[in-house]
Amino acid sequence: MSDANINILAIESSCDDTSAAVIQNGKVLSNLIATQKVHEMYGGVVPEMASRAHMQNIIPVVDVALKQAGVDKADINAVAFTQAPGLIGSLLVGACFAKAYAQSLQVPLIAVHHMQAHVLAHFIEDPKPEFPFLCLTVSGGHTQVVLCRSHLDMEVLGETIDDAAGEAFDKVAKMLGLPYPGGPMVDKLAKEGDPLKFVFPVSDMQGYDFSFSGIKTAVLYFLQKQQKENPDFVAQNLNDICASVQHTIIKMLMNKLKKAAKELNIKHIGIAGGVSANSTLRQTLQDTGDQLGWQVYIPRFEYCTDNAAMIAITAHYKYLQGQFAEMSISPTARATWS
Ligand code: KG4
Ligand code: ZN
Repeated sequence: MSDANINILAIESSCDDTSAAVIQNGKVLSNLIATQKVHEMYGGVVPEMASRAHMQNIIPVVDVALKQAGVDKADINAVAFTQAPGLIGSLLVGACFAKAYAQSLQVPLIAVHHMQAHVLAHFIEDPKPEFPFLCLTVSGGHTQVVLCRSHLDMEVLGETIDDAAGEAFDKVAKMLGLPYPGGPMVDKLAKEGDPLKFVFPVSDMQGYDFSFSGIKTAVLYFLQKQQKENPDFVAQNLNDICASVQHTIIKMLMNKLKKAAKELNIKHIGIAGGVSANSTLRQTLQDTGDQLGWQVYIPRFEYCTDNAAMIAITAHYKYLQGQFAEMSISPTARATWS
């Protein structure tokens, strides 16, 4: 292997997926994800179980990622990890592993912000966005409109003041008796439903901020009322409820994205994060882009949900800028942009 190659091993362990990726000169060579099934029976992620599962998964996942990439650990130039935000126990497992690995190889450590990585997932494959670029980042823990001036110069223009969009999908799904995580299931059932059958309130916060707690409560009261009159209401209307809730969430997301694109006069627009896997959101973005003359960017499905490839591409740009972390750095559950 040539000395000129930059090989980075990246670890993502912020929630319930243990992932490792190897990137060479900005090209992802492997991206392994071990999804923790243990949480399904609890209807949500159990933090302590997530940490334990990360401990069990991390060594095999890294081994396979290196093997698939065909890169020897002696040729790794830096080790990157998700430093924030996330579940503290989960983050700690990745951070401790990354530090120990970097120290044993005598290579630098790179700390990555999970939300910045979701945005930079757009730079894993072509076509890559041009700057300035607006990104709607929608996950289980965050909902943000981000202005990207360059790879590492980003500004959060607005974000949710309460629940994240993914959380709204998951909580409504739970009310409907659907398995966790509910987002993909709501997406699937909504395909057969009428998005205009039921009307839920569309919140409009100041600036580019969002609020999703209102729709959650509105759906709860709506279901309680309907079920009093007809105990089979959910079973009889499941697809329409899913389609209508999804329609409302997407409307709130698109309203802010359109407002930001118009006010900042930006035509390069993308979506990132787990909820960007939603088929109707992807289609709506595409259709809106066609109408408004946007160049739209949507990462491949596996790069939308949590993955180490997005940590790896962020680490690649940080490596080029010499942005390394001290060995004493600690993960943090909540963190603003670094
Ligand atoms: O980015 P991500 O994998 O993890 C976090 O950083 O939170 O996002 C997970 C979220 C969950 O709320 C999940 O329900 C949602 O993304 N999600 C979806 C879809 N696929 C995943 N929501 C709606 N439609 C989908 N197809
Ligand atoms: Zn995420």
